[in-house]
Amino acid sequence: MKGIILAGGSGSRLYPLTKVASKQLQPVYDKPMIYYPLTVLIASGIREFCLISTPHDLPRFKQLLGDGQRWGLSIEYREQAKPEGIAQAFCIAESFIGKDSVALMLGDNIFFGGDAFPRACAAFRSGATLFAYHVNDPERYGVVEFGVDGKAISIEEKPTHPRSHYAIPGVYLYDNDVIAIARSLKPSPRGELEITDVNNEYLRRGTLNVVRLSRGTAWLDAGTSTRLHEASAYVHSIEKRQGIKLGCPEEAALHRGFLTVGQLEDLLTTMPACEYRDYLADVAMDARRHGQRGA
Ligand code: TTP
Repeated sequence: MKGIILAGGSGSRLYPLTKVASKQLQPVYDKPMIYYPLTVLIASGIREFCLISTPHDLPRFKQLLGDGQRWGLSIEYREQAKPEGIAQAFCIAESFIGKDSVALMLGDNIFFGGDAFPRACAAFRSGATLFAYHVNDPERYGVVEFGVDGKAISIEEKPTHPRSHYAIPGVYLYDNDVIAIARSLKPSPRGELEITDVNNEYLRRGTLNVVRLSRGTAWLDAGTSTRLHEASAYVHSIEKRQGIKLGCPEEAALHRGFLTVGQLEDLLTTMPACEYRDYLADVAMDARRHGQRGA
């Protein structure tokens, strides 16, 4: 399965922070926001990525992430000239996806806890797999309604009267049909190729699977200044309490066996002295001691 991270958009709610750098490059406590979704996908076993952003921001993402090789990954880049919808990602990244299945993740979605994503990626065969998360304010999201048998029966985009409290977060798994489905979409009244229309097509075909995320999973939204601040505070409190880092791509790549301990140690020599490097040095030492995979 390949991975697409969609990191464009206008980030207007974060203005003036986003006047120079995009939303997904903003710090969430001690790392750029994009590290968090990238880490989720690496931890799910994905190694080949395509990052989509605006022509303005793409060079900065390239500067930050490079071709991914130093983390045992490959990262390609594509431009989205205008924010014409999440589903447009599949048209833009068609040549990258090739004949594979694909996970799409929005670059401003931050998750911690649980193993729903690695499990779903490992179990994925065909159709579409989405996730559902109980929220207080479902009207801001795509909302899924479940029937008595627990299967999804409707999906609505930002409904005025939501039929459930289950929002669909920005992680979606699709088989290769998604390219043809996205290509057949017409823009919605707001001028976007809607991901909800893609999901409704899978629902219509009877090949949609929706996994409810458990209470142990945190899904944070960093779309406004207050929520960005809250996300940072959350990361800070967990990291301080537990002495672990959240959203650390190098660590996830090591645990997945994409990087060896030796490669991680080499990487450390390229970093300035900082807390992040000290943490990774501990991770590398632990891996040597306990014979972590990739050692
Ligand atoms: P939004 O939060 O809906 O939009 P935004 O990021 O432009 O922010 P604002 O509403 O403050 O103007 O987008 C959700 C995510 O999807 C975000 O990471 C940006 C991304 N996105 C794209 O990259 N391209 C698109 O065409 C759209 C619609 C969203």
